[in-house]
Formats: sequence, structure tokens, C-alpha cells
Amino acid sequence: MRIDIITVLPELLKSPFEASIMKRAIEKGIVEVYFHNLRDYTTDKRRTIDDYQFGGGAGMVMMIEPIDKCISKLKLERDYDDIIYMTPDGETLNQKMANTVSLQKNIIILCGHYKGVDQRVRDHFITREVSIGDYVLSGGEIGAIVFCDAIIRLIPGVLSDETSALTDSFQDNLLSPPIYTRPANYNGWEVPDVLLSGHFANIEKWREEKAYEHTLNRRPDLLDES
Ligand code: ADE
Repeated sequence: MRIDIITVLPELLKSPFEASIMKRAIEKGIVEVYFHNLRDYTTDKRRTIDDYQFGGGAGMVMMIEPIDKCISKLKLERDYDDIIYMTPDGETLNQKMANTVSLQKNIIILCGHYKGVDQRVRDHFITREVSIGDYVLSGGEIGAIVFCDAIIRLIPGVLSDETSALTDSFQDNLLSPPIYTRPANYNGWEVPDVLLSGHFANIEKWREEKAYEHTLNRRPDLLDES
């Protein structure tokens, strides 16, 4: 998968891709990530990317021209499955969306700033708008990092034990059951016997029951969706 990220703050984006799972995915050649500084697509001396709103109102708007230039250049080089805009009024990211996007070959992610982008960018270039939750961040970069992490870990070969992504919370609309590791008894706090029994069918049954119970307590809305 190739991910092209368009941003005014490339320095904010880079380090998460230089650690842990995302780093490994890049090193293994499974994912390529490129950062494009929007200011490189401006023509004026001050490298302006925003301007006042037509009609008045507080807050600057990201201009269409530099964004058009950057996206059009990338589109000449290859086809893109999705051109994604990170924005608080987008579709809320969930595991289903992450699964869908993780299957794509090439995507562009545009990070918004200020009040957002000129509506014509959204109307004519963007194919998917993504929010990471009902709160407003200073820009789309942190959302883009969250989004990339959620999709990259799902690509086959990225996690060493592939099944561990399949058993994540939210797959099948269930939260994960409780997990334990050694010691089996810590200060008298014991690990459930069934997990030490070696009886795999019983362990599986226990996990399913606990996952259901946990989902019912914490996120009953997920059970309505399935
Ligand atoms: N940009 C600002 N807030 C955001 C959010 N909640 N999700 C995605 N992008 C954003």
C-alpha cells in the first residue's frame, strides 16, 4: 500500500512512522508513506496556503490551488483508490472503515487546518471524509496518524501473528475479553482457572462469553449493529 499525506506540518507527522508497527511495515516494504508539504505547491514568496472566507467570518480557509496542484501531480503518477480528507465533520472512523481502507493500494490523505478547506476541494477531489471522533483537533495530522495506524496494522504481513489483528476489539463488533499473563497468582489475585486448564474449547467458550459480557456492559450499541 502507498500512502501520500498532504500537510502543512510534515514535521508533526514523521516520528510515529519511525517507531513500532508502522516502522516495521515500512521496513518490510509492505507500506510506503510519503509526506508532501503543501507550501511546496504555492507560487508566492510567502508560500501562502490560506485566505479569508468569502462572506466574512472568523478563521482562515485553506485555498484550493495548492491542494489542486499537489493532488493533480500525484494523480498523474498513479491511480488512487481514495482521496481522504481528515475533518471533524467526516464519517467517524471505526474498525469497519479501517478494514475497508486497509485493502486499498494507493491512498491520499489531506490534513485540514484552520477552519478547513475551500468546499470545492471537497466537492471535486475528495472521495472520503474521515473524523477520528467528536472533538476538534488543531489540524488533521494527528487524525491522519491514528487513521494510518488503524489501517496499516490490518495489512497482511504487518503483524507477525496475523491472527492478532483478527482478534482485536471491534472485529465482529465485540470488545476483547480480559487477558492475563504470568504470574498466575499475584498477591492472591488469581487468573481464572479455565485459562490455565489447557482445555482449548472451554477457553474459547469462556473468551466468547466474556467478550459478549464486556460489550454488553461497555458498548451495547455495538451489539445492535451486528
Ligand atoms: N481535524 C480536526 N479535528 C479532527 C477530527 N476530530 N478528526 C479528524 N480530523 C480532524
